[in-house]
Amino acid sequence: MTVELAGLTLPSPVLVASGCGGTGRELAAYAPLADLGGFVTRSLTLNARLGGPQPRIVETPSGLVHAVGLPNPGLEPFLATELPWLVQHGARVVVSIAGSSLGEYAELARRLGSAPGVSAIEVNLSSPDASAAGVFDVREPFHAASVVSAVQRDLPRGVPVLAKLRSDPVRVVESARTVLEAGAAAVVVGNALPAAMPDGRAAGLSGPAIRPLALRCVADVCAALPGAQVVGVGGILGVDDARSFLAAGATAVQVGTALLHDPTAAARLAAALHHDSEETAS
Ligand SMILES: Cc1cc2nc3c(=O)[nH]c(=O)nc-3n(C[C@H](O)[C@H](O)[C@H](O)COP(=O)(O)O)c2cc1C
Repeated sequence: MTVELAGLTLPSPVLVASGCGGTGRELAAYAPLADLGGFVTRSLTLNARLGGPQPRIVETPSGLVHAVGLPNPGLEPFLATELPWLVQHGARVVVSIAGSSLGEYAELARRLGSAPGVSAIEVNLSSPDASAAGVFDVREPFHAASVVSAVQRDLPRGVPVLAKLRSDPVRVVESARTVLEAGAAAVVVGNALPAAMPDGRAAGLSGPAIRPLALRCVADVCAALPGAQVVGVGGILGVDDARSFLAAGATAVQVGTALLHDPTAAARLAAALHHDSEETAS
């Protein structure tokens, strides 16, 4: 079941969501990454980040609250080790980026855009704990557009930009319109919702708890912007969840939290949707 997303031909509409598939090695032990639509890396910053203090992840009745603080090896080690490994294993690599300034976003785009094997850039415009994590705090749609413009300007042609927004039902259509006008090829809706750890630290809420809200946002964006390509993400666990997002108009879906308790979740969904498409075709 191939899909066309942002000018790319993907073998499946199911991708791994940023930050939820480790370096890829953690998932490849269970199913080939090449069978998925794509692997979105954890958000990468220019310099290495250790991440926030423990505890970083706490279970809630219907999801996870997390304040991981965007731990990542930084650009150079990623280019030297993680990217070649993913490419070698057949993954279509979407590199998520986060910066503390417009200049950092632009520098990441410039370097990654010329790295062999990078299929697309996903710009994280919706970190639920941005201030705590020390990344550019995108509060208004025009902030998001500035970041996308800066990334576009320094990215070689042919590498599409996906803009990752928050599932905020009040602002999501306006945000989507603004980033698409700034040059994003597709929008990803959406990130973890702003929440708090039990000790009050800024955090994100993910998992089934946010699915209805994410679905509402995807449906609203697809209805308001009929030509837009939308990737739905938020609480997708089973194939019926994925079907709901696709029926609402999403071109593709990403699986996040589900992978943390079932590393085969994305591969299972990809296989089930492939089966759906074969049934429709016959
Ligand atoms: C442990 C963890 C780490 C995450 N790290 C990132 C990240 O680095 N960048 C990003 O854009 N989103 C990150 N996310 C958000 C997910 O990519 C996804 O947008 C969100 O969790 C909603 O989807 P889900 O309910 O399927 O997990 C993270 C989520 C979790 C649970």
